[in-house]
Formats: sequence, structure tokens, C-alpha cells
Amino acid sequence: MDELPPHPFLTLKRFWSGSGIGTNKEMVENLQSYGVVRSKKVSEVMESVDRAFFVPDGVPPYVDTPLPIGYNATISAPHMHATCLQLLEKHLQPGMRALDVGSGTGYLTACFALMVGPEGRAVGVEHIPELVASSIKNIEKSAAAPLLKKGSLSVHVGDGRQGWAECAPYDAIHVGAAAAEIPPALIDQLKPGGRMVIPVGNIFQDLKVVDKDTDGSINIHDETSVRYVPLTSREAQLGDN
Ligand SMILES: C[S@@+](CC[C@H](N)C(=O)[O-])C[C@H]1O[C@@H](n2cnc3c(N)ncnc32)[C@H](O)[C@@H]1O
Repeated sequence: MDELPPHPFLTLKRFWSGSGIGTNKEMVENLQSYGVVRSKKVSEVMESVDRAFFVPDGVPPYVDTPLPIGYNATISAPHMHATCLQLLEKHLQPGMRALDVGSGTGYLTACFALMVGPEGRAVGVEHIPELVASSIKNIEKSAAAPLLKKGSLSVHVGDGRQGWAECAPYDAIHVGAAAAEIPPALIDQLKPGGRMVIPVGNIFQDLKVVDKDTDGSINIHDETSVRYVPLTSREAQLGDN
């Protein structure tokens, strides 16, 4: 599974290529046929949040690949969005709280908001102000727009390594960029019984699933190998621009 363009040492996992898929529904059906989307709730939310509203204009939206969104960032591939939604599904029940660190285009923040519903809370944190502004415009075009208006969905400019303490603790935390180590603030802001999904590593990265037990103890397992852009400082990310 990949987030960055091809790397010479890594085999890329991509479930389909080319721009033959013409609708968001077909994209979700493909993810179902490959067994990436396995539940009704995840298929429903991915069908209701059209990926086309979140990719740059003129780009085929339904190809299973990450796409550049500027500022050395990408929108994740559909199979990665689906994988993370499946892993977090039980922690995205109505009324629960979700944090999306490195929210980028706002796609997953919108999905989280719809899953936790108007009584829940979905918070996106992204450190590039221009991406926060464009993600809000994307969300306004999507099925999650009423939740943004109501305030159960919000996106903020900030260093996601610090989480977003104001709305903590969270039942679900998703990190959309690869950390060298799991940021302690994110562990602190995870609710007992909650789950975090976070890519960890440099060139070789693992998607780690961090479960906090009801007694506060932490269990971590590796789900799959991935390649994400780094969770870093704004200066380091923009350094090559
Ligand atoms: C793979 S991209 C976007 C992922 C997002 N899930 C999506 O599909 O649109 C990762 C994002 O993490 C952001 N990022 C990197 N380091 C960050 C940090 N320290 N705090 C907040 N955002 C960060 C990047 O700017 C980028 O937008």
C-alpha cells in the first residue's frame, strides 16, 4: 500500500490503475470487490462523500493512487482511506469523538463526521493554512457540509503532533502522515477503549494500530507496510518548495 510515488526499493500495492472508473459508487464497489471495504457502514460513508470534491480540478478522482495536492502533500489513495475507516469503524459510532491529524483535503475528516453524526465530534488538524482553507471548501461541497455548519465538524491550523487538546479525549485518532515515533500527546488524548491508526517509520513504514485498554494500558500491532509523507514541521515539509 502506498502514499508516495514509486520508490525503487518498494513494490507498490494498487488495486486498479487508469481512469476507467467514472463514478464514486464504482470506486467503492471496486474496493468492496477487492475486500478492502468490508462493512456496510464504510461503504455507505464512502459512497456519500464523493472523492471528486476533494481532488484537484482536472485530475481523474477515482484512480487508486495518492494524488498531489500541493505543499508537498497528497490526498491518500482510496484503498488507504478505506483501510483506515475499516480499522477505526468500531470507534466511529454515533456520538463518538474523532481526531484526524494531517487532515489534508479533509476527506477522512468528512467521513469521520458523518459516521459519528451530529451528536459526535470530528476534528481535523493540518499545519498548512492553505490546505485547511481548501479542505473547508471541499467539505462545503460534500455530504458533510451540514455538520461543518452545525459545528460538530471543524478543521484547524496546528501542529498535529500536539493533537487537539480542546476536544480530547478521542475514541478514534487517525494520523495521515508518517511519524518517526508515536507522539506522546496523541497517546494522552486517546480515550481508554479508543484506537489510533498511525503510520510510523522513515523510508520503511508500518501502519500501526494503537489500542488503549479501559485500564489505560497500550497495545500496538502492525497492520501493513505503507509509504506516507512525513509528520514533520511546516518548514521541513515546505523546504524543497
Ligand atoms: C498524506 S497527506 C493528507 C492525508 C489526508 N488524509 C488526505 O487524504 O487528504 C498528509 C498531511 O499531513 C500534513 N502534515 C504533515 N505534518 C504535519 C503536522 N506536524 N501537523 C499537521 N499536519 C501535518 C501534511 O501537510 C499533509 O496535508
